[in-house]
Formats: sequence, C-alpha cells, structure tokens
Amino acid sequence: MNIELIKKVDAFLCENIEKSAHYEGNNQRAAEYRIEHSRRVANIGFEIARAEGFDCERMYVAGLLHDIGYSLDYSSGLDFRDHGRLGAQIAMPFLHSLGAYTDDRIEEICYGIAIHVDDKSDFEYERTPLALTVADADNIDRFDAFRLYENLMTADYRELPINDQRALLEKRVNRLCELREMPCGTATGKAMWQAKVDYQIDFYRRLGLQIDNSYIRFDIISGI
Ligand SMILES: [Fe+2]
Ligand SMILES: [Fe+2]
Repeated sequence: MNIELIKKVDAFLCENIEKSAHYEGNNQRAAEYRIEHSRRVANIGFEIARAEGFDCERMYVAGLLHDIGYSLDYSSGLDFRDHGRLGAQIAMPFLHSLGAYTDDRIEEICYGIAIHVDDKSDFEYERTPLALTVADADNIDRFDAFRLYENLMTADYRELPINDQRALLEKRVNRLCELREMPCGTATGKAMWQAKVDYQIDFYRRLGLQIDNSYIRFDIISGI
C-alpha cells in the first residue's frame, strides 16, 4: 500500500466534502459522517480485497472516493441518485492527476464508483470483483450497528404505541430477509453482508421478544 497516495486521496475527499454546498448551513456533522462512512467503506473493501486476492490499494481508493459525488450541490436540479455516476466524473481527473495508475486501472475504480448506487453506469467496463465490491462495502457499512440506531430514531420508535412497534419490527425483519439474498460481487462480500443482515434480524427479533414479554404471559404461567 502506498500510504502517501492514500493520504492524498483522503485529503481530496475531506476537502471536497467539507466545502460541499450539499452540507452547507448546520450540516457540519453530516459532512463529517460522509467522510467517516467513506473511510469505513474503504476499510471494509480492503478486508474483502485482501481475502479475495485482488488489488487492496485501488480498492481502498475506490472506497474513499465512492461518495465523492456528494461534493456537488443537489439543491439546484441534480438528482442525488446520480451521485455514483457524477462521483466517477469527479474521481476520474483526480486519479489521473496522481499519475499512479494506468487508464484501465482508473476506469475500473471509476466504474465501481459509478455503479455503486443503482448498478448503472454511463460508460462500459467489465464487472470485476473490485468494481462490484464498492457497492458491497457500502451496503455492509450501511447495515451496521449505527443504522439500527438511526432507523429507530427516524421512526420515532420510542414513542410508538406497542402494536405499531410490533408492526414496524415485523416489516423490518421481512425486508431484511429479502435483502439477505441480494447478489454480491464476491463470496467474502456475501458472507460479510449476510452477517450484518443476520445481526440486524437478530436485533429486531430480540426487540420483538421484549414486546411479547410486555404482557402477563398467561400462556406460560397458567400451567404452573
Ligand atoms: Fe453512495
Ligand atoms: Fe456510501
């Protein structure tokens, strides 16, 4: 790993996200979160690349830059669902300016960035393990512990009537069971993805068991 190069890529990420109009106003913490998430995606991608035997350094670079599209201003008509393809357009000249990789290797990184949101790119490239792992690493981070907290906060779970809490938990578990079977780019990515989904399913089921136990359990106590 070329550590100096990684530092340059990280500096480019920070500089562009921090100055982004997308995070203007009181959104400082959201900008920091985007940088932290990008670093986590790089670390997860690295772990997958090392296990699968493909280029760890370029995977790390792809992870750091995968959300660089968020440095654009989406209040003026751009669609944030295009942030993968737009991010690839930002990453491409920057990666060329580093002078570290061939055109082909840069295209592979940028293709992974382009497809990470909706699996669609505006240029052709091979669907290599490195390119596919950008989305996998992104999903693996997005379904980790923080997302559980965030989802419950967003749903205002604490304030919901108990029946609505139960319905929400069932809905989440059903959706997670579907997502669990989502295709991944590598066997390692699939195993890491399913471990995160299983963790979430287990958490929501435990919450459901707490709800079951929030009543007098005549079904259990009446036989004693
Ligand atoms: Fe993204
Ligand atoms: Fe992301």
